[in-house]
Parts: sequence; structure tokens; C-alpha cells
Amino acid sequence: MKKKILVTGASGHLGGMLFKSLARIGYSNLLGTDLKKKNIQKKEKFILGNLKNIKDTLKMTKGVYAIVHFGAIPIEDTQQNILQNNIIGTYNLFEAARVNKVKRIIFASSNHAIGFHRRTTRLNELSTQRPDSHYGLSKAFGEDLSRFYADKFNIKSMCIRIGSCLKVPEDRRHLSTWISYDDLTQLVDIGIKHKSMHHEIVYGASKNKKSWWNNSRAYKLGYKPKDSADRFNLKSLSKNEYKDKMALLFQGGVFTSANFKGNIKYIK
Ligand SMILES: NC(=O)c1ccc[n+]([C@@H]2O[C@H](COP(=O)([O-])OP(=O)(O)OC[C@H]3O[C@@H](n4cnc5c(N)ncnc54)[C@H](O)[C@@H]3O)[C@@H](O)[C@H]2O)c1
Repeated sequence: MKKKILVTGASGHLGGMLFKSLARIGYSNLLGTDLKKKNIQKKEKFILGNLKNIKDTLKMTKGVYAIVHFGAIPIEDTQQNILQNNIIGTYNLFEAARVNKVKRIIFASSNHAIGFHRRTTRLNELSTQRPDSHYGLSKAFGEDLSRFYADKFNIKSMCIRIGSCLKVPEDRRHLSTWISYDDLTQLVDIGIKHKSMHHEIVYGASKNKKSWWNNSRAYKLGYKPKDSADRFNLKSLSKNEYKDKMALLFQGGVFTSANFKGNIKYIK
């Protein structure tokens, strides 16, 4: 594809991975952006920018066809840091996209937008959001924001509720939540190219037997995961989940129990 694609968070783990993997599968006009320049090769196009700053987002989205939005704080943080970087940052990016007539946005959402669902509940794309943290709330906001910009301004979007994207699954929770780098790349590619997409919520998961999510919407859009956590024999709990009974009840794991002042019995 020759159209210009902007990758935010290009110096980070997943944005950086996608910046390289999209080039490998034929994207020839990629522009990376981030707060800092890290692991960017000389031949790659890159622009420094802070999503908190609307002037920066207007500059980085000029002439762009689609945005792969992976620039954000990826874990729980203070309410102010999440508000500024994830909520205002994402809002600025969408608003700049509208001004500059960007056609599509692929949004890195998260399982923490639905983290307060029980592990025994099977979710699909229509399940209610149930954020488990300020971080998860920012992802729920991003999903609503993208639906609004799709309906109101016809900017097509795909929100990928990413489970755990890492080279290999590392603990028992990942048997349900893992997605490989190649499978995430495939989903992003579908989000950029799908002909009749409007606004979509899909789960960023490989083909895991122990998944908590019915990802048939992604399959309808053409997703054919090549990887699965099933072949990994993982019995151990993560360091964090160990001794945390509450974390084991909910899909968001330790994000649910951190600073918890509620009453578990009401979270059904
Ligand atoms: N890693 C996972 O398994 C996972 C799971 C669910 C969702 N996600 C989402 O995927 C995205 C990428 O996660 P990651 O693991 O690569 O995190 P990361 O921290 O490695 O990368 C995020 C990048 O965003 C940049 N960034 C942060 N605030 C910014 C701002 N105000 N302006 C410009 N750039 C800014 C950072 O500098 C960093 O390079 C995030 O949105 C995260 O919430 C990741």
C-alpha cells in the first residue's frame, strides 16, 4: 500500500513492532511518531510529537490516509497522567484527523476496558464496557470517541481490545489473553484495508482455546489467527496474580484489585 499511514507510539513496544511489520507486509509510506525517537532506522520516516499538543497532532496527520494509534501510557497511572496522555491525547489525534481528512483509525484498546467482567462470562463485540482502572477507562473513552467520529464524520475505525501482546505467553492468564505479533499485525492490516468497515470492536487475541472472548466479528472481517497459546504448557500464575484471589475472578486481573475499595459481590 502506497497511501500514507501514521503509526503513533512508534518508539514503543507494539507501535515499534507494527512500524516494522507493516513495512514487511508491503506498506511503503509509513510515518512513525512518538515523544522520543528510539529504535528508528535512518531510512524510516519519523516525526517527534506530543499527543497532548493539538499543534503536534495537526502536523503529524497532514496528508495521512490512516492512523495506527498505539501511542499512550499502557498501564495504570495517576488520574492526571491518564487524562492528559490517553484521553486528551487521543481526542487531539481524532480531532486533527477530522481536520486533515484522515479516512481511518485503528485504535489500540485493551482488555482493561472490559476488565471488571468475570472470567466466567464470555464476551463479544456487543458486551458492555466495564473498565477496571483509570487506564481502562481511557480505553473505553477511546472506543466511544472512535464510534462518535465514525458516525458523525465518517472516519472509519477499528478498536482492537488487545489482550496480552508479547513474543510468547508467560503465565496462565496469557493462555486466555495472548496475541502474537503476527496476529496483531494481521488485525491492523484488516483495519486499514477492509472495504465495508464502519466502526468495529474486535478482540486482539490469537486462537486460544481458553479465551474469554467470542471473536466472531473479527473472523467475519477476515481475521484468521495463525497462532495460539494452546501449545504452551503454562501452569504458573503471574508474579502479580499469585496470592491475589480477586485478580483471579476478573478478566482484568490485578488491575481490578489495585486500590480496590468496592464490594466484589456487586460486580456480577
Ligand atoms: N502490550 C500489550 O500487551 C497491550 C495490551 C493492551 C493494550 N495495549 C495498548 O497498546 C499501545 C502500545 O502499548 P505498548 O505496550 O507498546 O506501550 P509502550 O509504553 O511500549 O509504548 C507506548 C508509546 O507511546 C508513547 N507515548 C506515551 N504518551 C505519549 C504522548 N503524550 N505523545 C506521544 N507519544 C506518547 C511512549 O513514548 C511510548 O513509546 C497502548 O495504547 C497500550 O495501551 C498494549
